[in-house]
Amino acid sequence: MFGTKKQCLGAFFIVWGSETMFEPSKHCSTISNNVSGDFRQNEQAMAEVEPLDWKEIDVRLGEVEPEIAREVLLDLLTDDISPVIALSRLLLALGGAQETEELLAAVARRWGRPLDPRLREMAVLLHDHREGCDRVADMLREHPDPLRMSGPPEEIVATFRRFFDRSVTRNEEASVAAYSLGDPGILSQVTEEVVAQLRAWDLLGPDRSTLEIGCGIGRMQAALSPYVGEAHGIDISPKMVETARRRCAGLPNVSFSVSSGRDLADFPAERFDLVYAVDSFPYVHQAGPEVVETHFHEAARVLKPGGEFVILHFSYRDSTEEDRAEVRKLSRAAGFTLVMNGAQPFKLWDGVAFRMRKG
Ligand SMILES: C[S@@+](CC[C@H](N)C(=O)[O-])C[C@H]1O[C@@H](n2cnc3c(N)ncnc32)[C@H](O)[C@@H]1O
Repeated sequence: MFGTKKQCLGAFFIVWGSETMFEPSKHCSTISNNVSGDFRQNEQAMAEVEPLDWKEIDVRLGEVEPEIAREVLLDLLTDDISPVIALSRLLLALGGAQETEELLAAVARRWGRPLDPRLREMAVLLHDHREGCDRVADMLREHPDPLRMSGPPEEIVATFRRFFDRSVTRNEEASVAAYSLGDPGILSQVTEEVVAQLRAWDLLGPDRSTLEIGCGIGRMQAALSPYVGEAHGIDISPKMVETARRRCAGLPNVSFSVSSGRDLADFPAERFDLVYAVDSFPYVHQAGPEVVETHFHEAARVLKPGGEFVILHFSYRDSTEEDRAEVRKLSRAAGFTLVMNGAQPFKLWDGVAFRMRKG
């Protein structure tokens, strides 16, 4: 799907016109492998480029409008975020694939050569996933605006239920992760990164029971299945749960159920060794402080002593400092020991990690 030199050249010419800013063979081996194989191969290309400091990057970028797009590019070029995350953020900031392509073309013209491999990778991702990018941009446009939501928790939960019920029927991968660009290969690389981190934290094992809040299409359960005794997922969206059941059919230690989105009342005390939320807690957070507090107390209740509550992304407010302060307060009130408060342990994904231990 991604590999030939012709396709790579196509990406180059479409995005940057006729100037020769890169060597096709090098570009192809790096980028096409990155997309279909391993993103980390971009590190090899990076090693061949002279590193620029923040000021030089700033000058080379020049004027970029809107400011939010400039911030995304700065985050990318200072290695704060990966090309897939940067691309999904640009799609959100600019509203579409066409606008993103035009902005990248202008940036590339100003940048000169050699073009930074991260910018190059983003442009090729956009070209190779044009349809997925359009779909992601549509979904992002329809996503309820977190800043404009108000009302009782059940109304907010219902709004998200409708949104996710609709999104999953359009594209399963994009409905749970815009950065996947609708590509199962991209999503599974990020999933592997999350699983590797959970393993490194020693949270998995054949005797462990796990619960994910907001499981979506069940990608985490499918990936965790070989490493745990039980992988259960709950979600407010019946269509997500239906999809997850289909995708995980045949995995005997995986199960799913539809939840109210307001508590964990379906489970008895001390039932799980790990309760976690991947990119879903911001939706819980949107439902209001009472629902957030309830989830902390409920997680403490359903966890066995020594079990952990892990949240990867806590809120939409874009302030890790404020998230840290709130998580510190909530975890103390629920009787947790805070083990990690807002670290960023991932390379491909930009998930911010919070870990709390019971007892
Ligand atoms: C961005 S998706 C992430 C799905 C999954 N965790 C993943 O990373 O693939 C967010 C999911 O959270 C679910 N969700 C939203 N609010 C929820 C709530 N209050 N309780 C449980 N699930 C919720 C949505 O239906 C959606 O499936």
